[in-house]
Amino acid sequence: MIIYSKRKAPTELLFVFHILLYLLIHVQAKCRTGCSLAFASYYVWEGSNLTYISTVFNQKISEILLYNPQVSSQDQIDAGTRINVPFSCDCLNGDFLGHTFSYFTQFGDTYDTIASISYANLTTEDWVRRVNVYNATRIPDHETINVTVNCSCGDRRVSRDYGLFSTYPLRPGENLSLISTESNVSAELLRRYNPGSNFSAGTGLVFVPATDQTGKFPPLKISTTGVSSRVIACISIAGVAGALLLGLCIYAGLYKRKKVVEASLLLEASPDHYIQHGRGLTGITVDKSVEFSYEELAKATDDFSIANKIGQGGFGSVYLAELRGEKAAIKKMDMQASKEFLAELKVLTHVHHLNLVRLIGYCVEGSLFLVYDFIENGNLSQHLRLRDRDPLPWSARVQIALDSARGLEYIHEHTVPVYIHRDIKSANILIDKNFRAKVADFGLTKLTEFGNTSLQTRLVGTFGYMSPEYAQYGDVSPKVDVYAFGVVLYELISAREAVVKTNEEVTESMGLVALFEDVLNQPNPREDLQKLVDPRLGDDYSFDAVCKMARLARACTQENPQLRPSMRSIVVALMTLSSSTEDWDVGSLYENKALTNLMSGR
Ligand SMILES: Nc1ncnc2c1ncn2[C@@H]1O[C@H](COP(=O)(O)OP(=O)(O)OP(=O)(O)O)[C@@H](O)[C@H]1O
Ligand SMILES: [Mg+2]
Repeated sequence: MIIYSKRKAPTELLFVFHILLYLLIHVQAKCRTGCSLAFASYYVWEGSNLTYISTVFNQKISEILLYNPQVSSQDQIDAGTRINVPFSCDCLNGDFLGHTFSYFTQFGDTYDTIASISYANLTTEDWVRRVNVYNATRIPDHETINVTVNCSCGDRRVSRDYGLFSTYPLRPGENLSLISTESNVSAELLRRYNPGSNFSAGTGLVFVPATDQTGKFPPLKISTTGVSSRVIACISIAGVAGALLLGLCIYAGLYKRKKVVEASLLLEASPDHYIQHGRGLTGITVDKSVEFSYEELAKATDDFSIANKIGQGGFGSVYLAELRGEKAAIKKMDMQASKEFLAELKVLTHVHHLNLVRLIGYCVEGSLFLVYDFIENGNLSQHLRLRDRDPLPWSARVQIALDSARGLEYIHEHTVPVYIHRDIKSANILIDKNFRAKVADFGLTKLTEFGNTSLQTRLVGTFGYMSPEYAQYGDVSPKVDVYAFGVVLYELISAREAVVKTNEEVTESMGLVALFEDVLNQPNPREDLQKLVDPRLGDDYSFDAVCKMARLARACTQENPQLRPSMRSIVVALMTLSSSTEDWDVGSLYENKALTNLMSGR
């Protein structure tokens, strides 16, 4: 027993240390808001010019010139000098400050050349690879990819006098005193803003306070610090709590060995209990909220009772839960999570968007359980096809299309890492109480990649929604989702299943894509297209809007993935459709039908 207690004292210290370390790492990585302005310090290389720089940073030349008074002629910038390129410093994923630029690839580009040449070392090869879906050896030409550059908005713990920062790639030959002289910021301050950076390393990034158009250092705006006040409060509380715990451990270790044994046994039995206990006592908010115990989930679902079951999918069953006073949907997966997937899940809990079903947390006891926000109104497939549901009005269909497109655009372009859904279908588009749509199950396809042998051979996706290149060669790109999204658009128009039975024989089935293609390829498709429109819409729709949506769906489902639009362009197209549909539908759904019919030429 005594030997045990001797062994346990340092374990406890280690445990406390881990909590503190976890808190520090965790909270430091967080942000709540960004700031509207930061600079990328671009080292001008021979052959680059302002047109090129403005293209890669998606920024107007006139905007760049505002912050570079040293440039006398925009046609000539000197190689070997630096240009400050303005950009907005965003809080990405609620995790870190950065900005994701869209870069249009050229023949011969590699992630390395993009990072080191096109973006002049403002990012790294590894970073670019992580925010894109393409294999490093197979980056397509003439495709838009993401390039993320880190930034800073200041740090009130260092100084409130500086609120504008330049992301500054260090070059060989540079050192602290040189940068201090050039930036007119003391070496001491530069060091404090960049703890751990070696200014003479000739490589790596540092953040340097910068002046604005007026030549002054703008002060820190209170709300734009990278670390929120709540987080700072957390650090302080954690510090105090940590010190208390440390003191307690030492006290117990030295004078109360017997009690330490009991306490350590408790810790070993359930570290979560310890943290929760600690939270109640001291206010430590360790981000353990994403991890649930099986006991809690079982209680919330009445022991996963049949009565609570709300759905069944390819990966497992879904249950309605009453969890911590809120409704949640718990997906009981028919598998365990690998270590890699667990890491992935943690990232997924940070991806928040109005049009994505939020992953609240998970549990790994027994099998894998995923805890999601409960979305009240079922899935799109049910709304389109179940007779006990009212038919969706046309305006709601356009809104659902736009919402889902926005959700997809977000995971394709704005998360880090970016995601390809790979299982877009009407059953994975959930409808909330206001008939707004949210995309479910993004990020889950990674389950198949992380060594789960039973699933590795499953081509993720659903028949009828799979693009030809994915079904035939397993080629994955964001355009796989665009194709599936096109099928969903056809569903919204027709309310038919993605695979339509042309007669009772299952073998004689035809994809919705082919069905629409046949009609749209006719010289005068109007009549046949009208026949494909969901009869439950009656006359309450604009045929012109249906044509537009069908044309968009057709563009999305083209055989050549490169010809399909990006989700970003689809969002724009649907926004236009939505604004014209709103006008139309206001009348169509309410009294003034005659006027509406007149306006739409029927
Ligand atoms: N967060 C949620 N809120 C409300 N209902 C949900 C939620 N998640 C899933 N459901 C319901 O449970 C059903 C089954 O979901 P699940 O994701 O397991 O299967 P699926 O979407 O039909 O197929 P797949 O396994 O390919 O995603 C969904 O269609 C939906 O109706
Ligand atoms: Mg699903």
